[in-house]
Amino acid sequence: MSDEYEGALAAHVMEALGAGTADLAGLARTLGEGGPPLPSGAPWTAGDLAAELARVAEVPPKTAVARSVTSDYDAERARRPARADASPAGDVEARTEFLLTYGLRNQWYVVAASAEVGDKPFGVKRLGEALVLWRDENGAVHAVEDRCPHRGAALSIGEVHEGQLTCAYHGVRVDPYAKVVAVPGLPGCPLEGKTLTRHYPVIEHYQAIWAYFGDARHQTPPPLELPEELVSPEWTGMLHHDTWNADYRYVIDNLCDPMHGPFLHGKTYTQSRGPRTDAVKVLEKDGSFEVFREGQRGVNLDWMEFVLAGSSTYARVEIPMPPNAGPGGIMGIIFYTTPVDEAHVLISVWRLRKVSGWQRDLWHFLFRARIRGFVDAVLAQDIVALGTMPPWPAQEHLYGHDAGLTRARKHFREAAKAQARELLLEPVS
Ligand code: FES
Ligand SMILES: [Fe+2]
Repeated sequence: MSDEYEGALAAHVMEALGAGTADLAGLARTLGEGGPPLPSGAPWTAGDLAAELARVAEVPPKTAVARSVTSDYDAERARRPARADASPAGDVEARTEFLLTYGLRNQWYVVAASAEVGDKPFGVKRLGEALVLWRDENGAVHAVEDRCPHRGAALSIGEVHEGQLTCAYHGVRVDPYAKVVAVPGLPGCPLEGKTLTRHYPVIEHYQAIWAYFGDARHQTPPPLELPEELVSPEWTGMLHHDTWNADYRYVIDNLCDPMHGPFLHGKTYTQSRGPRTDAVKVLEKDGSFEVFREGQRGVNLDWMEFVLAGSSTYARVEIPMPPNAGPGGIMGIIFYTTPVDEAHVLISVWRLRKVSGWQRDLWHFLFRARIRGFVDAVLAQDIVALGTMPPWPAQEHLYGHDAGLTRARKHFREAAKAQARELLLEPVS
C-alpha cells in the first residue's frame, strides 16, 4: 500500500479525531466525505474501516507471559566456572567507580532489539563488555563474550554453524555456553571441552532481548521482573531502540527530570502546554520513586516513576496525548537504559497505550504513519542536549528541580558500593 494513501488516511482520521469524532461509524462517515477512497473503491463503512485499520496496523504479537520470567539457565550452566568481568582489580572504591561508570552488575539489561539478531553473529558492546549474539536453528537467542578463546579474535566476524559460533581466524567453534566444542585444525587438542570465556543468560520478550550481567558471585540469574505494560494484553506498543552519544548517567538524570519538558521540548507536539515554573517533588514508594511537578498532572511531561528494585532498572513516563492521537488516554513509556561505554548509551523505549480491538489497530497505524515522527522529534531534542554534556563527572550546580536525579544517583552509588563490598570483602560461602 502506498505511503501516499496511508498518509492521507492518517491525516484525515487525525483531523476527524481532533474535531471530536471518536467512534468507528463517525470516522467512516467523515472518510466518505473527502477522505481517500478505499483501495477497492467501495464506500467507507464502519466494518470496512475496522478491516482496513487491521490491515495497515502492523501490531506486534505479545505472547502472554508472567511478570516474572526465568531464563533457560539450566543446571549445566550453573556448573560452569564463573568468569570475571573486565573490572579493575583492587579496592572497593575502584570497583564502585567501575560499576557507576559501566553499570551495576547482577541485573538484566536490554542488549538488542529482537529484529537485530538473526542467524549471523551480531557483535555489540554493553556495560563495557563485548558480546556476540546469534540465533540457533530453532530461533533461540544466545550470547557469549565476543572473544575467541584461542587467541582473542572477535567471534562476531565468524559464522554460525549448527547453532554454534565458528571463529573466522582458525575455525575454533564454541557452543551457546562458550564451551569449545571443536578445534578443526588440531582435533583432540586440550582446548576442546573447556569453557574459557563468558556466556550470558538471555531472555527474549516483546521485541527485545535482555542479557544478565552477573559478577563472579552471582552467576545464576534471578528472574527478570517485567513491567506490567510489557506483559498485560491490555497494553500495546512498539519498541524504539537507539544508541546515543552520552554517558548513560545523563540519560538516567533526564528520566528523573520533568522540568526539562517545558524548556527543551516546549515547542513540540504535546509539550507546549502548562506553566514553565513549578516545584518538583520526589515520592518514595516500595521499590521505586516518583518524580513529579507539584503544580500539574496530566498536562505535559509532568510525572515519571523510576523503578529500581528487582533485577532490572527502568523508568515509566506518562505522556498526555491530544484528541487527534485517538482513544487510549496517556501514552505510557517504558524506558530502559543500558550503558555501552563511557560515551555511549543504548536506549530501549516502548511507547504504549491501553487499547484493544479496532482502537488498538488505530493506535498502531497512526503511530507508524504520523505520531512516531512527532515523538521521535522530542527524543531528538534530548539527543542534542545530552550530546553536549561534558564527560563524567558532571560539571554542574544543581537546584531544587534536580531532586529526582539526586535521588537516582544516591541509589546507584549505594547499590554500586554494596556490590563492590560484597564482591571484594565478604568471605566466599
Ligand atoms: S583466534 Fe579464533 S580460532 Fe584462533
Ligand atoms: Fe526529554
